[in-house]
Amino acid sequence: MDRIRIVGGNQLQGVIPISGAKNAALPLMIASLLTDDTLTLENVPHLADVEQLIRILGNHGADISVNGRRERQGESYARTIHFTSRNIVSTTAPYELVSKMRASFWVIGPLLAREGKARVSLPGGCAIGTRPVDLFIEGLAALGANIEIDGGYVNATAPEGGLTGGRYVFPKVSVGATHVLMMAATLANGMTVIGNAAREPEVADLAKCLNAMGAKITGAGTGTITIEGVRSLSGARHRVLPDRIETGTYAMAVAMTGGDVILEDTEASLLDTALEAIRRTGAEISETNSGIRVVRNGAGIRPVDIVTDPFPGFPTDLQAQFMGLMTKSSGVSHITETIFENRFMHVQELARLGAKISLSGQTAKIEGVSRLKGAPVMATDLRASVSLVIAALAAEGETMVSRVYHLDRGFERLEEKLTRCGAHVERVSD
Ligand code: EPZ
Repeated sequence: MDRIRIVGGNQLQGVIPISGAKNAALPLMIASLLTDDTLTLENVPHLADVEQLIRILGNHGADISVNGRRERQGESYARTIHFTSRNIVSTTAPYELVSKMRASFWVIGPLLAREGKARVSLPGGCAIGTRPVDLFIEGLAALGANIEIDGGYVNATAPEGGLTGGRYVFPKVSVGATHVLMMAATLANGMTVIGNAAREPEVADLAKCLNAMGAKITGAGTGTITIEGVRSLSGARHRVLPDRIETGTYAMAVAMTGGDVILEDTEASLLDTALEAIRRTGAEISETNSGIRVVRNGAGIRPVDIVTDPFPGFPTDLQAQFMGLMTKSSGVSHITETIFENRFMHVQELARLGAKISLSGQTAKIEGVSRLKGAPVMATDLRASVSLVIAALAAEGETMVSRVYHLDRGFERLEEKLTRCGAHVERVSD
């Protein structure tokens, strides 16, 4: 199993190209099941989760061809992938596939809308929390679906004549359930209104692509989305939006080590709240023609309190990284996690590097230390693992991060991107 070896202490200087967003690419790929035509996605990141979803879509009958053209020699693969689901050969998503990645549950929306039925394994719990599917079930039921849970599977069927438009107000904001309901409603008869919808940029990106395919969606990116059903959708070509979590992660890495880095091909408006928090720690952040510039020189890292929230709040997917940054702040900070109940597994690993963190319910108290020291650590989930990288970049000596398959799920060519900016980061294959 691969590990990542980091020798801390170097400032970061240079340019980091930001990849297409994993969390936009996944629902966009799933949307290809809504049409028998070809959906072409550009700027798709080369990640383990994308590869896994390619296998899952193939199981439903999608014909997928990958154009591996390098947009920048040696730096990032912004791949163009063509998805054609002329015939759906299976409406079942089996446990073996769904259990590996929660987002694969989302195929339930397109399969149900297009084929009138879907049998999808329950995704089960996962390391960061229980992650139930009640909101998906209630939302799809509001479109007339009949849903039963049996033997670990969700069996959904549409009434004779297909799904019908309906009104559903989410009692709690859910990104995935918003994606699914929006996709299902595109082919329903009549009008659907989704209230308390997730406002994440990835929802707006999916709506943009669906509209290019012929859907009639308005309001995506706000709390109320309206969808007028159409009989069928066509193919389209769509460019995946930049990864705001990768952007924020590297911005925090620079705030941690000091230095001067341009984050290229990304947009500040995707992560205003997080950038504001990073600014308050003492880094300078400005927008450039091609992206965002992050600079921190001599001054120390100021402590800043944050609370995670659905968009436009501080993203839960950047919480671990911000904690990594706070471990070296000049005072005491507090981080409160409100989205997932068990997203603090990085705390004990950061402690191995010398961080002083105590937990009380959903709030972590971080007492900044002046020195971190390299140590062997273990990645526990995708974002937790990169928080260890951030801390290790500013630690004295060597840190060896094991279980890096977590990192490979969501960070494209991390070691290469950091090495080009002067960090000592290398992959070690045993
Ligand atoms: C998406 O997950 C992201 N995944 C997650 O990113 C991200 O952390 C999360 O949104 C929150 O921003 C992808 O986009 C692929 P939710 P999702 O449904 O859609 C509860 C990463 O690191 N809930 O918005 O699964 C749920 O338990 C990943 O890239 C219900 O109670 O998250 C949670 O507490 C990890 N019932 C809250 O809602 C339901 O039926 C928000 O979850 C569904 C969700």
